[in-house]
Amino acid sequence: MIKISNRLKSLCKYVFNDDKIIDVGCDHALLDIYLVQSGIINKIYVCDVNPNALQNGIENIEKYELTGNIIPVLGYGIEKINQFDVNTLIISGMGSKNIIDILSSPNLDRIYKLILQSNNNHYELRKFLTSKGLNIFTEEVVEDGKKTYINIVAGRDYHIKTYTEKEYLFGPILIKDDKNLDYFKSLKESYEDIYYKSHNDSLKEKIAYLDEIIEELSKD
Ligand SMILES: C[S@@+](CC[C@H](N)C(=O)[O-])C[C@H]1O[C@@H](n2cnc3c(N)ncnc32)[C@H](O)[C@@H]1O
Repeated sequence: MIKISNRLKSLCKYVFNDDKIIDVGCDHALLDIYLVQSGIINKIYVCDVNPNALQNGIENIEKYELTGNIIPVLGYGIEKINQFDVNTLIISGMGSKNIIDILSSPNLDRIYKLILQSNNNHYELRKFLTSKGLNIFTEEVVEDGKKTYINIVAGRDYHIKTYTEKEYLFGPILIKDDKNLDYFKSLKESYEDIYYKSHNDSLKEKIAYLDEIIEELSKD
């Protein structure tokens, strides 16, 4: 069984057996190999825009003898998904700008569930998702070395939700889960550090929101 990082493993619980998935920006395809080896899914498309990255993935797929289960696609984002039977997207290990770029395709209409893992600009990503009629179902903080990623699972629903500024900034699900108290405390500390150095007033509002969130999550 292949070993994968906790960051990648954290995504597996969002994948269901009947999802028709493409992993966009697969690179080494380690997540996809793990998903198949562990029996979570039987078939997955994997795509990368960089031929060398995709070649890494192909070599790993061959090494683990999963050529029939993991289908590599060279291409930009979701531009080719109309050629495949796909309704679920994984995009992980990227920044939100890149993710938004990939999702800004008419082919997004074909997707019902998105499993996203970004390490920055989560405000923009959440705004983008709701602007496309996608609700946020689940969120999770994932630490990986010095970086903090947030997993966001979004999808289509009968009622399109909108969120407050505080929810767009810090996550409508994250701010209600007391597991995230330490994350929000350390985020507040880093915002305060920047504020004392830069006196950037936009940070004051964020710090005030963080005070509210911390107070709420600290209640018994
Ligand atoms: C940092 S790696 C992440 C690999 C893997 N998803 C993970 O989480 O470890 C990002 C990969 O995404 C690919 N990529 C970036 N933009 C892309 C796009 N628009 N379409 C397809 N692949 C893209 C890059 O070539 C690179 O291989």
